[in-house]
Amino acid sequence: MLSATHPYDALMDITARPSTVFVQGKGSWLWDDTGKRYLDFIQGWAVNSLGHAPPAIAKALVEQANRLITPSPAYYNDVSLKLAKALVDQSCFDQVFFTNSGAEANEGAIKLARKYGALHKSGAFEIITFDGGFHGRTLATMSASGKKAFEPMFEPKVPGFRKARLNDLASVARLITEKTIAVMLEPIQGEAGVWAATPQFLQGLRALTKQHGLLLIVDEIQTGMGRTGKLFAYEHAEITPDIMTLGKGIGGGVPLAALLATEQASCFEHGDQGGTFNGNPLMCAAGLAVIEEIGKPAFLKAASDAGLYLESELQRLSARHGLGEVRGRGLLLALDLKLPIAISIVAQAFEAGLLLNAPRPDTLRFMPALNVTREEIAEMIGSLDAILTKSGAARRVP
Ligand SMILES: Cc1ncc(COP(=O)(O)O)c(C=O)c1O
Repeated sequence: MLSATHPYDALMDITARPSTVFVQGKGSWLWDDTGKRYLDFIQGWAVNSLGHAPPAIAKALVEQANRLITPSPAYYNDVSLKLAKALVDQSCFDQVFFTNSGAEANEGAIKLARKYGALHKSGAFEIITFDGGFHGRTLATMSASGKKAFEPMFEPKVPGFRKARLNDLASVARLITEKTIAVMLEPIQGEAGVWAATPQFLQGLRALTKQHGLLLIVDEIQTGMGRTGKLFAYEHAEITPDIMTLGKGIGGGVPLAALLATEQASCFEHGDQGGTFNGNPLMCAAGLAVIEEIGKPAFLKAASDAGLYLESELQRLSARHGLGEVRGRGLLLALDLKLPIAISIVAQAFEAGLLLNAPRPDTLRFMPALNVTREEIAEMIGSLDAILTKSGAARRVP
């Protein structure tokens, strides 16, 4: 047995983390066990769509925990039926399968595509994914991802994924063979550093996949549920994909994710898919609370306005410090620092009580709560301005 000499030693050491222990949150703010307050522009990696400890989710969880936590996935429950109906009513999809994590939803999407290939395309099973893409940390979703660091890990990979280049339709067309069944992508590559698929590319992909009888799968685990200013990012390109995965923001902080499919693509048969906690009413109650809040008339407009304000403030900051472009959409934005100083900026921000993320050494990513206020955005910009000025690493333009 490992002798636990330090309180953290009982947890597997899977990533470098500051020793700070968080104990409380409210809206855009987190507190550690010393009482220090942090302004949170990570929000659990774009997870807490309504911020920390939102009353709507707390109420839904308490009420549901007192009523029914799970009857088992062998039976229907009223809450998952309501949530599935709400998602179907507000999207171009017809059916939903709930999962506990984004990776599990993507595993389901991969299985569904393979099933479709077995039923309708002579056993075609290959899925075209993209360099830089991120789809999760199970073996199949790591294999589907185009993250360089994953390449040498956990060999052998799950076969059947071929990588094209984002926004390069010809690179997709070149990979299509009789074995191909689907194309799968994030409308905005989040983990790679916030790189958007252009609307023209998404429209081109839709036409190409239709032409070859392929499924189009959008991984909206990071971009879905209002993150980009619309409920789903595919809406910006005015396309209708065949399959979509949701995660992160759909549960507002609790483990809930979903696989959605059109009637034609929804081809699982009994025994193909399942899982103990899938569609359990406790997590689905949180999902319902999130979708009800996001569905309130002014919510998405306010999130979209907040995104535009954050974008313009980041652009001002960039101009003032001689930095690079601001990328992304809505409240999923990145600032190119043009220098490999992002890790150091994140560390300094942490000391100053500001939580920021660096998906690349030269890039900061911003994914605040969807109900972040203008004052909180202004406060974050003020802190970041002070850190950039103090660090002196960036050229300050007079
Ligand atoms: C686009 C995308 N897909 C899939 C995942 C995996 O989701 P999870 O960590 O819930 O398994 C993530 C997580 O960052 C993601 O951003």
